[in-house]
Amino acid sequence: MLIAFVSAKGSPGVTTTVNALGGIWPSDVVVADFDPAGGDFALRHRGVDGEPLDNDRGLLSLAAAARRGTGEADLGEHVQVASGGLQVIPGVTRPEQFTGIGAAWPAVATMLANSPFDVLVDCGRVVPGTPLLPVLTAADAVIFVVRPGIEYYAHLRERLRWLAEPLHIGELGSIPLGIALIAGSSDTSAPRDLDRLLQYDGHQVSVLGRIAEDPKAAGALAGRWSRRIDRSLLIRSARELAESARALAMARTRTSARS
Ligand SMILES: Nc1ncnc2c1ncn2[C@@H]1O[C@H](COP(=O)(O)OP(=O)(O)OP(=O)(O)O)[C@@H](O)[C@H]1O
Ligand SMILES: [Mg+2]
Repeated sequence: MLIAFVSAKGSPGVTTTVNALGGIWPSDVVVADFDPAGGDFALRHRGVDGEPLDNDRGLLSLAAAARRGTGEADLGEHVQVASGGLQVIPGVTRPEQFTGIGAAWPAVATMLANSPFDVLVDCGRVVPGTPLLPVLTAADAVIFVVRPGIEYYAHLRERLRWLAEPLHIGELGSIPLGIALIAGSSDTSAPRDLDRLLQYDGHQVSVLGRIAEDPKAAGALAGRWSRRIDRSLLIRSARELAESARALAMARTRTSARS
């Protein structure tokens, strides 16, 4: 199962959400950092030995293998285990390295889609013309991470409009779209309000759930604090989101298996 996480604009919390989900995902999972603006995983994670992650294993080595056509070999060669046990594919540290991947994207996407693991990809901000389109179109689900607010919603609706064609929204076998809303516990109406707005617009997308606004747990996930967060609001909300995200992606997996 391949799930792509994106934002429409700003920095709503995609990386944090993907890391939180990776930590509690109920089956074998790899989290991949494909943010075109430059990855954060290598900055936020250390290896199990406490040393920085290895620069030579990650998205760039994966793209090189895909380009050589040895892509089917083993995704595991490009995965590193971070302290805490999370399996990660670190991204590029400089955005210009991203352009070098070029024509290898479809092969990279195929490798991820065929992986025996579930793969959660941080795709960062999605803009028209994104080189990551092959990853989005190979995914079993694409999930927008959004914060409440008129400006966030406006950019979200714009991106949804643009993605409708490449993701074949509205057609049989289209790629399911979902939304994870990062909101405080007092903001109980936000998911319902956004859902209504999108239905009114005619977008075929549903709000999967809320990720708790929880600065302390988010800081711990980014390596800014070391504290136990298993029982934090953020991790508890991530468990619920994991269930709805898996259900969304599984519907797609079943449809493509039938076709
Ligand atoms: N659930 C959350 N609760 C509170 N703060 C959060 C949450 N998720 C993220 N944050 C905070 O928001 C900021 C941006 O988070 P993050 O880096 O995950 O966003 P992003 O969407 O990946 O941004 P970018 O596109 O710049 O990579 C960080 O300071 C992070 O700690
Ligand atoms: Mg990010």
